[in-house]
Amino acid sequence: MYQQKLHQQINSTLPKSGIDISGKDNSFYARFIANADAIQSLYKTIYGDNEKSNEYFKQLLQTILNAHITRPASLKQRDDTKDEHWFLSNQITGMSLYVDRFCGNLQNLVDKIDYFKKLGVNFLHLMPVFESPQGESDGGYAVSDFRKVDERFGSLEDLKNLQKKMSDENMYLMIDIVLNHTSQKHEWAEKAKQGDKKYQHYYYMYDDRLVPDAFEQDMPEIFPEKAPGSFTYVHDCDKWVMTVFHDYQWDLNYTNPEVLLEMLENIFFYANLGVDILRIDAPAFIWKQIGTTCQNLPQAHTLLRLIKQCVLVAAPGMALLGEAIVAPAAIMKYFGTDEYTAKECDVAYNATHMALQWDALATGNIKVMLAAQHEILKKPFGTTWISYTRCHDDIGLGYDDYMIEQAGFNAYEHRRFLKEYYSGNYYSSPSTGALFSVNPKTQDARISGSLASLCGLEKALSEKNDHAIEISIGKIIMMQAHSFFIGGIPMLFYGDEVGYTNDYSYLNDPGKSYDNRWMHRPIINWEKNKNIDVEGTVEKNVFSATQKLISIRKKLSVVADLKNLTWLTPHNIHVAAYLRAYDTKKLYCIFNFSEHTSYLTWYAFKEHGKSPEKLYDHWQEKNITVGRDNEYLILEPYGFCLLET
Ligand code: GLC
Repeated sequence: MYQQKLHQQINSTLPKSGIDISGKDNSFYARFIANADAIQSLYKTIYGDNEKSNEYFKQLLQTILNAHITRPASLKQRDDTKDEHWFLSNQITGMSLYVDRFCGNLQNLVDKIDYFKKLGVNFLHLMPVFESPQGESDGGYAVSDFRKVDERFGSLEDLKNLQKKMSDENMYLMIDIVLNHTSQKHEWAEKAKQGDKKYQHYYYMYDDRLVPDAFEQDMPEIFPEKAPGSFTYVHDCDKWVMTVFHDYQWDLNYTNPEVLLEMLENIFFYANLGVDILRIDAPAFIWKQIGTTCQNLPQAHTLLRLIKQCVLVAAPGMALLGEAIVAPAAIMKYFGTDEYTAKECDVAYNATHMALQWDALATGNIKVMLAAQHEILKKPFGTTWISYTRCHDDIGLGYDDYMIEQAGFNAYEHRRFLKEYYSGNYYSSPSTGALFSVNPKTQDARISGSLASLCGLEKALSEKNDHAIEISIGKIIMMQAHSFFIGGIPMLFYGDEVGYTNDYSYLNDPGKSYDNRWMHRPIINWEKNKNIDVEGTVEKNVFSATQKLISIRKKLSVVADLKNLTWLTPHNIHVAAYLRAYDTKKLYCIFNFSEHTSYLTWYAFKEHGKSPEKLYDHWQEKNITVGRDNEYLILEPYGFCLLET
């Protein structure tokens, strides 16, 4: 609601700023006034009781103003050209990559723009490039300086230059803000170690084990093998500090309003570099409270909403992605609820569906996938998913037990089967993955391994088994196709576009060998990648198919994420079948998860509006006549169709 007092307060910050509220800064000013009440009330919900609450609130308003003043004119122009829901488009396809492992450094990445264009990728997620200590970096997620590009990758100028080149090519950029923690080598942590009280309050630091013990009663362990517990003893200052992830990643204390202010400034620093989507790393963890799991707490959502409102004012073209890899119902809340529906994170990972695809691939059965859809389909209009098969992290089988049970399986046995299957321990499994972070107390575990290795390519190649190679490539493509058309921004993981199998070189690096997620983070060999132009090679087969899927997707506006997906009645439990429909356009997406030929009654296509008579399969590029109800669409093992009416 409009508040005159707040309006006056904002006006009082303006005179010295030189902004022109009736001219070029008019839309900024309008957004500021319009969002001010929401910003204040969200802020007060968290910090209202803090004795310096008003003073910090003033600083928050100033931070927003400064962000606008320092936002380059070119980015303000780009903001204006972006539609409110630009990220729902079917035109965007992403790739996530480690700059150093992909091509050495940021300068070389500019030279790879042609490669991305050839493939059809126009959106890049750069894995963390800001300074992070070698050997204790967690792939860059332990940041020691939020504003200095790590020398390994180049300089801030190189990053700016890359952004400019990408923007000239109409490409989009995503980078991370690691909101939950800093490296223990960050300046704040160093000062805290030296006894500086101000900075000790930036973290959760305690003199003895009393509070840590109370917290740990209910906090699940994230890396139970390498980093058991959630606190670490710091010799330098003789205190215990909260470290939910690795012992070198110190959790920031957002009960302290100064921490929020500092991190908001960093967020705007990234926004003003030209970031299109900001990936908020691990947002589920940003608020802690004794007696809870310290994940997904309401205050974490309030903080994200507050950040979203501030960003809307000063960097409206930047969308927010919440990297919440949590239970299906919990993920959904990151899009916002109640009056904040579709006003929290614009994008989230569809981690549930990603894991369900792997479930269906191992079992050849889509029942669990279907049992989870009622939750996944709750995503509000105006928000979207990152849709993916693999990323830099492990695969967690995080969907709910009741979903597995509804499908008729025992949850514990079912998960055990999946873990054995993908770690290659099940007798008929072709996969060569590994278990990640096995919890010795609960036997919980996640799965590491590249898309290709999990699909059996590594084994097939080592056995020189042409038939198995063909089958595994079929699986790779079907898995990608399913995730490309299910809705959301497809995000490839680098290397998967050419079928990279596991890379075991990480075992020789003591800074990585303890973390088997590195097996699926390959070092790209560009000589090998040249095979994308050599007929008959694995690289060419996988690359061309991926390229074709991307180009089909770009042609079909019905694939934009307009909350326009309906699952077909499951006439065959091996076949995942959904309809994307908008206006008069319809696209039936049909995937056979079975190793055998599957048959789908033509009746399945006649349940939604006018029955089609002819369908065009974009994948096989041929027309198909719809048959009678007792006849079937025949799908090859791991085959799929993209059928337009
Ligand atoms: C996120 C990242 C993961 C990292 C963790 C801690 O989940 O994706 O790689 O280990 O955050 O920062």
